[in-house]
Formats: sequence, structure tokens, C-alpha cells
Amino acid sequence: MNDRIAELYLTHHASLHARHAEALTTTEYDWLIVYSGKSHPVFLDDSFCPFRANPHFKTWVPLPDHQGGAIVVGRSDTPRLVYLQPEDYWHSPPADPEGYWPAQFDLRIARSEQQVRDALSDLPGRIALIADHTVPADIASLGELNPPALINLLHFARATKTEYEVECMRRANAIAVQGHRAAEKAFRSGASEFEIHMDYCRACGQDPDQLPYGNIVALNGHGAVLHYCEYQHDHDSPQAFLIDAGAAFNGYAADITRTYCTADNFFAALIDSLDRTQQTICERAKPGVDYVDLHLEANTLLAAVLIEHGVLGCSAETAVELGIMATFFPHGLGHYIGAQVHDVGGHQATPEGTQRPPPDDHPFLRLTRTLQPGTVCTIEPGLYFIDMLLQQLRASDAGKQVAWDRVADFRPFGGARVEDDIHITATGHENLTRAQFAALQ
Ligand code: GLY
Ligand code: MN
Ligand code: MN
Repeated sequence: MNDRIAELYLTHHASLHARHAEALTTTEYDWLIVYSGKSHPVFLDDSFCPFRANPHFKTWVPLPDHQGGAIVVGRSDTPRLVYLQPEDYWHSPPADPEGYWPAQFDLRIARSEQQVRDALSDLPGRIALIADHTVPADIASLGELNPPALINLLHFARATKTEYEVECMRRANAIAVQGHRAAEKAFRSGASEFEIHMDYCRACGQDPDQLPYGNIVALNGHGAVLHYCEYQHDHDSPQAFLIDAGAAFNGYAADITRTYCTADNFFAALIDSLDRTQQTICERAKPGVDYVDLHLEANTLLAAVLIEHGVLGCSAETAVELGIMATFFPHGLGHYIGAQVHDVGGHQATPEGTQRPPPDDHPFLRLTRTLQPGTVCTIEPGLYFIDMLLQQLRASDAGKQVAWDRVADFRPFGGARVEDDIHITATGHENLTRAQFAALQ
């Protein structure tokens, strides 16, 4: 199976280099140094926060854990990888570079930070550097740090994934659905949020620091907290379960949400309707579709679900017009995904960096671009019963359109979300998530 990744990586590396060479030429830089980053030290302590590599670095090499190293890209030379393999008895140094990728680089092994600096100091001409604030000062001083003109070009281009990147995300989804199956099983056997979270990690074979984001494991009313990450050890008759959890492969992310209900009741029926609606929205995702339009259509479809389940007494169009959906669906339809779970460039209208912000009344929409072949994004509609937002709606004129008794029925179940990762193809889309759930049957 790794042969396919190896083959795809070669093409990926070549197109990445072509993309960078063009961006360097346009912005009149001769070299780009991409610093991988280092762990942030905990304040007044000698321990470190979980490490997240520079996403620019991860697109070049499948080394999501590599600290203190760098890639050097020029317009034509073979890209250089400065691989930090320190002599250290406190921590395990990184293994020798092995596999399908090192041969694509002019590889320099550095035994210390000073040697990394030395391996970067022979570059003639104008240098740009992409790095976070962990970059040592003597490396940062080698070039211009994070120049927007170059970063904009690279971020815009990153929205179109190579086949290697899509394959990494297929595999990340394959890992994550193992976790989702284990989590569903744990929920149905009465496990606590903490136990479900642990079962998820075990089934994925990834610890929480390796996952692309903190698992959201929410029983009953906790589903109404959009980014709930408390992992309670006890529970009170769990009936509803929302899990938003991903996995990583070669530094690329999966981001998946499912909602379950043990009873065969009105909340289970709402989840079914939401799931069907999510699939309808996915079916509409294809090249040329403006993601803002898709988000707005999703609002109308979700209003129709609320009407079908007796929550709203007006038409779907009226609900949208009155702004009622901001209460029940208070987040965006989705976002780009790749080397970051919320990949960059979602609001970028042009390679030069012009932004297209989301509509004023949909401020949380992270993606405002048109879908193209190679886009990978999430489709994640949800319906929630969030006290804070319900109180505001109830106090407004629009609140008259709501069947508050029905809302009271739904409140203890928190909310529901269904989220898949989709890859836009030349004619439609490939659902990276559902394909993996189907393969598990
Ligand atoms: N897991 C965070 C999100 O769905 O965007
Ligand atoms: Mn998401
Ligand atoms: Mn998610």
C-alpha cells in the first residue's frame, strides 16, 4: 500500500517545487527557508506543550513531529532538507531519514541548532523565511520573515490538493472511522465521555497530542457546546452522543462528526433528517459551486428540518429571512482541510491576497471560495439547542415563530451535527469519510 503513497509523493514533490519556484520568481525571492518549529516551553517549567509542526513544512515531508529542522527551496535546485538529529540522552533523537521521501532532497544532517544555522548560511541572494515565533533569532535574521506577498501565493495554491494529499486524507479518514466505530460501541455500552475518548484514541492508535484537534465527546446536553472538550468521568443516563473527532496521516487531517441516540424517539428522527440533509448538501458540491451559496442553501434546508420536526411554525424562507437560523445553526457549513484541520486560504479571493469575508450575518463561515477540482473541505451542518442563543431569540420578535414547548423537548439532547470530508473531482465529489465507513461494513 505504501508504494502508492511513494509514487504519489514524487508527483506531489514535483508540483510543490514548481508552485514554489513560480511564487519565488513572482515575488523576486531567490530562496525560501521553511522552519519546522519547536515545542513551546511551559511558563516557568522545564516541560513542553504538544508540538504542531509548521504546516508549510508538513506539506514537504511526512514529518509532523520533526522539530528544529528546515527545508530550503530555490527556483531550480533540488530542495534541501536540514534534518536536526541532535546528540541527546534526555530525549530520543529522530530516527535516520528513511523511506520514499529523503531521496528527493539534498539532505543535510545537523547535530545541533548551530549546525542547522550553518547549513542555511550559504544561500546567495534574497531570502524569505516562513516560521513561527519559535525560530531562533540567528535563523530568523537570515531572511525576510513571513512576507505576505509570498505567503499569499502559497496559501492560495494550497487550496488545490495534489493526489498525494488527497490519499493522505483518505488514510486519515480510514483511521478516524475506526475510532468512530469504537466510540459508538463504547457509548452504546454506557461508557463515560472520558472512557469513550480513550477508546477512540486506542482504536485509532493515536494519542490525543497526535490527533489534529481535541476530540469533542459530548453526551446528552453537552452536545449544545460546540467545542465541548471536558471528558467527564461520570454520566447521567446517556441517551444522546455527539462525537467530533479526527485522525492524522503523514500530517494530514480527517475531521468527522457523528451523532447518535439510544432511544427510537423524536431526537433520533431529527438526526436521521439531518443526516439526509447533509447528504443532499454533499450532492450539490461540485466544481463551480460558490461555497457561500452552498452555506446559504444549507440554512434553508436546515430550517425545513426544524419545521418538519415541529420546532418552527413559519416557512423555511421566513426563518432564514428573520435570522432565526443563527440560533439553531450558529456556525459555518465547513472549511478547507489539509495539513491543518482548518486549512488556510478559505477567505482568499485572489492569489495576491484579496479577501472575500463571509456575509455579515454569517460571520463564522470559514470558506467563501468557489469549489474546484482538488478542493478538500468539510460539509458539517448541525442543529443545536443552546440556552444562551435560545434566550436571545425568545426575547425577540422572531421568537414568535418558534414552538417553545417543542424546543423544551429537544433541549436535554443538546444538538446534532454530521460532518464528512469531501474531495471535489472534475465532475462532482468523492466523500472521503462515507467511503471509509462503508468499507468497514
Ligand atoms: N472539529 C472542528 C470542526 O469541525 O471544525
Ligand atoms: Mn470541521
Ligand atoms: Mn469537526
